[in-house]
Amino acid sequence: MPDKIAGLLARMTLAEKIGQLAMLSGDYAATGPTLSPDYLDAVRAGRAGSLLNLWGRDTIREVQRVAVEESRLGIPLVFGLDVLHGHRTILPIPLAEAGSFDPDLWERTARRAAEEATADGVALTFAPMLDVARDPRWGRMAESPGEDPWLAAAYAAAKVRGFQGDDPARPDALSATAKHFAAYGAVTGGREYASAEVSERTLHEVHLPAFAAAVRAGVDAVMPSLGDLGGTPLHADRRLLRDLLSRRWGFAGVVISDHSALSDLLAHGVAGDLAEAAALALKAGVDIDMMGRAYELGLPDALRRGLVAEREIDAAVRRVLRWKRRLGLFDDPYRGLDTLPRSHRGLDRPLAREAAVRSMVLLKNDGDLLPLPASARRIAVIGPLAAAGDQLYGPWWAAGQTEAAVSYLDGLAAGLPDREIRHAAGCGLEDCDEQSIAEARELARDADLVVLCLGEPAEISGEAASRVDPGLPRAQRLLAAAVLDTGVPTVLVLTCGRPLLERELLARVPAVLVAWFPGVEGGNALVDLLSGRHAPSARLTVSWPVDRGQIPVFFGQRPTGRPALDPDNRFVSRYVDCPNAPLYPFGHGLTYTRFAYADPSATPAVAGPDDLVEVTVEVANLGDRAGEETALLFLHDPVASSARPLLELRSFRKVTLAAGATATVRFTLGPEDFLLPGPDLKPVREPGRVEILVGPAADRDRLLSTWIELRNN
Ligand code: IFM
Repeated sequence: MPDKIAGLLARMTLAEKIGQLAMLSGDYAATGPTLSPDYLDAVRAGRAGSLLNLWGRDTIREVQRVAVEESRLGIPLVFGLDVLHGHRTILPIPLAEAGSFDPDLWERTARRAAEEATADGVALTFAPMLDVARDPRWGRMAESPGEDPWLAAAYAAAKVRGFQGDDPARPDALSATAKHFAAYGAVTGGREYASAEVSERTLHEVHLPAFAAAVRAGVDAVMPSLGDLGGTPLHADRRLLRDLLSRRWGFAGVVISDHSALSDLLAHGVAGDLAEAAALALKAGVDIDMMGRAYELGLPDALRRGLVAEREIDAAVRRVLRWKRRLGLFDDPYRGLDTLPRSHRGLDRPLAREAAVRSMVLLKNDGDLLPLPASARRIAVIGPLAAAGDQLYGPWWAAGQTEAAVSYLDGLAAGLPDREIRHAAGCGLEDCDEQSIAEARELARDADLVVLCLGEPAEISGEAASRVDPGLPRAQRLLAAAVLDTGVPTVLVLTCGRPLLERELLARVPAVLVAWFPGVEGGNALVDLLSGRHAPSARLTVSWPVDRGQIPVFFGQRPTGRPALDPDNRFVSRYVDCPNAPLYPFGHGLTYTRFAYADPSATPAVAGPDDLVEVTVEVANLGDRAGEETALLFLHDPVASSARPLLELRSFRKVTLAAGATATVRFTLGPEDFLLPGPDLKPVREPGRVEILVGPAADRDRLLSTWIELRNN
């Protein structure tokens, strides 16, 4: 249909063209989206090409009807929404789900979210978020797949496949947005919206790979970061948006601004007025202005002043119209809204439960306290998170209803009918009084075991929730101390969107399960794991620091010239008051059995440029229960043209083993796995010896290694 787009462009007024570049927001009430005359007028007048924060079949049908029947050109709208971790079925937050190390699950949950969202008329999600996050002070870590660029790239591809499906014109295909391009996770001091300062090498090695993977997977949209990178706001970054994203990577979709980010260019100090802001963004490659009105108010003036040419506006409009065509909107503006299966309008609780089970990380389990012993007849479920189902969704969700959430208390009561479950909140999320704490202490004393449900309130996690002290609120610390003083065996369940820095508490309590923000089935997933119906299998995708002062602590650090090998040598790279290593490394996560690794080997021992390298390792289940192990494979190149990270993740494999069983786990590495950014940052294969390390976590003490030699001929 090339003529359709050319024909439309030829008939459009300047205002209608700019309208296609404007994304307005629907109104929003506690009950969901509401229709306001203001934006219906804008739609009628052709001043909006897309809308965000609207969903629901009747709402969407009516607004789309106005666009196609009452606007002069009848161009359909795209409806966008933050479908971040589920639409109606709220799933675990991305940081949690990434820890399942399960691309099939990542894809299935995105697919389900797409089915539900499209059944509600939504055609675009502002997800997946692909910002590599290494700073727990930054609240948005909750939405990120974690600290590792390779894992983030694998996650990106699976999420794009899941959201978009195999045919964009299918009514249940949801356009995905890779956000926030790029290095948003590197904000200085973990402070939201602050400037990021990263080297070119780090940008290419750490922050870009996930976006490149999303583009390779065919992502429809990209959203720049709200911050600036070394002084250039990402919404005005022509080098990244035009030269890299579109020219070098061949991205042919649309670039959508973050909320009012174009007008923010004034506060960034790179534009004197909206005309300059609009011109900067358009020239840089931003096609759609979300809510800033910078294009609407600034572009006509920019055109008059010669800051932009009309053909540049046309090019952006063409990209938007082509996207609408790909989505099939010109054939069916309602995208089969009435034909989508009824089941897509309900909740998929089994999937939510599976995802939550596979996302919760068992940090410690001293004395095999878990699964719950038969002797624990009376269980005290204590803490402000125990009955607070609404907290389980985390900081930001789309169309989920918090009443649907199964709280931990309800899950435990329903899932453990033969035990006596008693409950006390003990304190509020951030406040406490002596009497409530005393009541909780008494309840604990009278129990065989305590399940202590503490956490970070959802309100201080996520966007605009940076914290200098990412731990538990003081009230909860006091409650924890009172409960632990009773000496009754205690399982700590942490609800959070980032590692919580509670060194002393974590040392004191024998068992810790990190539930993250687990979604609608949080309580049922918890009882599945505590009871032993399922064994924990998730791993951390971010290092869990010992202390705030270590931040950022991550496994992909580069070597120092003075490694801390000799404890008697003062002049080495270390803290004098804290270890260098995190409390728990990337990849850490226990289960109800133990695995041992042995005999790693790699063939061929000398690998040419086209060779595949097969790595094997023996994994044995040493316990008396079946279990699932995730084996991670890292590379380390000890001598290269630039200092390589101490460990670089390149693969993982899952294996399920019966009690006492052993299996050979195989990995295959391709030539691309051995590429590194050379001196000019172009990918090169550098000959020489490369160490291959295999094991459960990014901790040299828990990895076995073997070597191969790379040759280039
Ligand atoms: O998609 C989000 C973005 O991640 C943060 N600002 C608002 C957008 C739309 O809700």
